[in-house]
Amino acid sequence: MSLSEKSEDGHNRAEQIVFEYHERTKHHYHRFAASGYMDWATQPDPFRRYMGAPLVHLPVPEPGRTMLYWQLYADDRVEPAPLSIESTSLFFRYSLSLTAWKRLHDNAWSLRANPSSGNLHPTEGYALLPAVGGIHERPGFYHYAPKEHALERRAELESSVWTALTTSFPNDSFLVALTSIHWRESWKYGERAFRYCQHDIGHAVGTLRFAAAALGWKLSLLDPKDRLAKLLGLNRDADYVGAEREASELLAIVHPRDCTGITFCDLSKVVASQVADSRWYGRANALSPGNEVSWPVIDVVSAATSHPTPINAEDFSGFPLKKSQFELPIGHGERTAEHVILGRRSAVNMDGSTSISAQIFYQMLARLVPTQDNRSVPWDAIPWRPRIHLGLFVHRVNELTPGLYALVRDSAKLEPLKQVMRPDFLWQRPTSCPRGLSLYLLKEGDCRALAAAVSCGQDIAGDGAFSLGMIADYENSLSKYGAAFYRNLFWEAGLIGQVLYLEAEAAGIRATGIGCYFDDAVHEVFGISSYAWQSLYHFTVGGPVEDKRLTTLPAYAAQ
Ligand SMILES: Cc1cc2nc3c(=O)[nH]c(=O)nc-3n(C[C@H](O)[C@H](O)[C@H](O)COP(=O)(O)O)c2cc1C
Repeated sequence: MSLSEKSEDGHNRAEQIVFEYHERTKHHYHRFAASGYMDWATQPDPFRRYMGAPLVHLPVPEPGRTMLYWQLYADDRVEPAPLSIESTSLFFRYSLSLTAWKRLHDNAWSLRANPSSGNLHPTEGYALLPAVGGIHERPGFYHYAPKEHALERRAELESSVWTALTTSFPNDSFLVALTSIHWRESWKYGERAFRYCQHDIGHAVGTLRFAAAALGWKLSLLDPKDRLAKLLGLNRDADYVGAEREASELLAIVHPRDCTGITFCDLSKVVASQVADSRWYGRANALSPGNEVSWPVIDVVSAATSHPTPINAEDFSGFPLKKSQFELPIGHGERTAEHVILGRRSAVNMDGSTSISAQIFYQMLARLVPTQDNRSVPWDAIPWRPRIHLGLFVHRVNELTPGLYALVRDSAKLEPLKQVMRPDFLWQRPTSCPRGLSLYLLKEGDCRALAAAVSCGQDIAGDGAFSLGMIADYENSLSKYGAAFYRNLFWEAGLIGQVLYLEAEAAGIRATGIGCYFDDAVHEVFGISSYAWQSLYHFTVGGPVEDKRLTTLPAYAAQ
C-alpha cells in the first residue's frame, strides 16, 4: 500500500504509520517506550559546524535593552528595525543563542534561549538572507552556530536566484528554516525522541516569533511544498560524509509588521534547483564517533510525516477581539523582554509552597488564546486554529478551588470535549474568570499526587502552582491535514509551552516542560477513552528551587 492510498477505515498508510508510532511510543505505568541506555562514548556533540564554510561573527548585543516584556505582545507599537547585521544578531540572540554556561565540578554545559528536552538540542537554525552590510555583499544561505553566535555561509546565491525566491515577499524580508538531528534526542530517549524533536521545534518557533516581535517584525510559517530539503542542501551527500543527517522541518518568512496573510513561498522546482546549483561551502562535523544506535521507527515516522498538506488560513471569527481581550490589561509587569527571554530557565525542582494570584493565572492562560484577526503574538506565526486544549491540575492559585480544570482554547470545541471527557465533570466557570476565557472547573480536589504520578512520578508536576496536560484534537486534525500534521500538533504544543516559560519568568516564577508522562494514565484522569483525543505534552508552573551547587558563567566571553 502506498503512503497516500486509503484503507477501509478511511486513513491512508502514512496516517496509520503515525497512529502506530504514537501508540508504541507511549509511556505506561508498567512499561516505558523503547529506549536504549545512554552510552556516554557516543554522546552527540550539541554543536553542529560546517567545516570550511566562511564564518561571520555577529556582534553580541550589549545588554540593557529597555523594551518591556509585555510589549512583545503589542508589537504593532514597535517600530520595525531595518535589516542589518545588528538586527540579525539580536534576532538570533533572542531565538537560538546560548544564554549561559553552567558548571558543576568538572562538568560544564550551556543553556539556550530555546529550551530542549534533556538539553540535547536537536534543532538547527538556518537563514536565507539578502545582501546585508557586514554579513556579505551577496544574498546567502547560512547556518546559525550558537556557540560562536555566528553565521556559517553554506551557499552564496546569485541575485537573480534571490529575486526569484522572494519575488512575492515585501522588502527587507528574509527566510528562516529549522531542521532536526534526530540522533541527538534518540541517543537518550530512543523511539519517543521524534516527539521531543517536534516539541523542540515548537519551542523554537516561539523563540523566533518573540525575537521577531522584539524587532517590530512578524514571522509566519510558509508552505515550501516538498522542496525544503533541497533548498537547505540537506540532500548534499558529499557534505555529510560520516556526519549525522538533518531532517527538514519548516520554513518561515520574517517580514516587516505591516504585511499580512503571507503563507505561500513560490519555491518552484526551478528556484529550488537554482539554489542547489549555487556555490556551496562546508562539510558537516560528525556529532558522535560512529556506533550510533539506529531507531528505524523514527526514520519511518519522519518519512510518513514529510509531505505537508497546504494549510489555508482558517476562520478565526469566533475568537475574542484583540483590544477587549478578556478584560485583562495587555500591559503588565516591569520585567524587560531581554530579562525574560535571556533569563528563561526550567525549574529543576518546585518548592511546593509558592502560590500565584488568580489574576496572574488568567493572564497566562489568556496569552494562550489567539484573537479574531489571528494577529496576536505568537499565534499569528501559525495559520491553523488551536487544536490543543489544556487539562489543568490546579494546586495553588489564590481564590481558585484546587482541582481539575479545562481551558478550551477554541470554544467551538467545548461540546466535543464535554462529550469525550467524564460525564460527571462539573464544567463550571470560576466566578472571577474573565469574560471570553473558556476556563472550566471540572472537579474539585487535591490533585498534587495525581499530577506527579501521571508525569512519570516527577514531583515538579505536583509541587508547582499548577501543571497541565495538552490534549490534542488528534484524529480529526490528521484526517483534515494528513499525517504530516502530526508534527504541527507538537509544534503547537511547544509554542504553548514557550509562552508559559516566558509568562512564568515575567511573573518571577518558573516553568518546566514535561515530556515524560504516562499517556493513557492522563487520558484516564480526564475520562478520555476515545483514541481521537491524545495528550501530547505536559507542563508545570510554580516557585522554583535553585540548585545552589551550580556556577553560572556568561554565554559569550566578551560580556
Ligand atoms: C520538550 C521538552 C520536554 C521536557 N521534559 C522534561 C521532563 O520530563 N522533566 C524535566 O525535569 N524537564 C524536562 N524538560 C526541561 C529540559 O530538561 C530543559 O529545557 C533543558 O534542560 C534546558 O534547560 P533550560 O530550559 O533551563 O534552558 C523538557 C523540556 C522540553 C523542551
